[in-house]
Amino acid sequence: MVIRVDVELWARDAGKAVGRGDLIIVIDALRSGTSILNALTNGAEAVIPAVSLKEAYRLRSQHPEYLLVGERGGHKPKDFDLGNSPLEFTPERVAGRSLVMTTTSGTAALARSQRAKRVLVGAFLNAGAVAGRAEVMAEREGVEMTFVLAGEKGRFSLEDFLCAGAIAEGFAASRVCFSDKVQAALLAFRQAEGDLTRSVLKSEHAKHLVRLGFKGDIDFSCRLNALRTVPVYSNGRITLQK
Ligand code: MLT
Repeated sequence: MVIRVDVELWARDAGKAVGRGDLIIVIDALRSGTSILNALTNGAEAVIPAVSLKEAYRLRSQHPEYLLVGERGGHKPKDFDLGNSPLEFTPERVAGRSLVMTTTSGTAALARSQRAKRVLVGAFLNAGAVAGRAEVMAEREGVEMTFVLAGEKGRFSLEDFLCAGAIAEGFAASRVCFSDKVQAALLAFRQAEGDLTRSVLKSEHAKHLVRLGFKGDIDFSCRLNALRTVPVYSNGRITLQK
């Protein structure tokens, strides 16, 4: 079977991929996808996405043992334990803990995708690993694949598009067939790959993060294929399933 791979450039269109029965790879390279990945790699038990601050506070009042993490406007909200900098998700802070996470765009894209049969979280750090896992899952279940780009507040974002290209690069060419949008992402990624951080720094969101003092998060997020872990979103929880 040859698996068709498409991309929804705006998270509001995630429902189209859910409706098609596709396996979805949600991408928010800066920064929530990278933070989720780093938290789980460093031993967090699960990440539970919440769409609003209200929902996040409610979940924590029901489960005081949960860590509350995420951002609004790039900053850690009131009474949160951690913000949305992937560098904060150290083993000392997260090992063995369940995290309730709410962010401006990333957790919203996850919520829009959650009714898909399979949802994976992709980032530059696990691009090759997520491609390999997605290919096996899609083949086994006879489904197509779609990248859902979180973007920023409903806008297209360059870094998520490049990340879709990075993951597309990891598929075995003979087993997949790309839409023109995915081909464009792949060509853009190949152009950017030589100095990925420099390319990502051209994006509006990266410039915003640099202004806020988070340049280190961008350097960390652009470490292509540094991790082999693949977060899976199922039954309201993101975990590293075997
Ligand atoms: C988001 O989900 O909107 C982003 O992760 C924002 C950020 O960089 O903190």
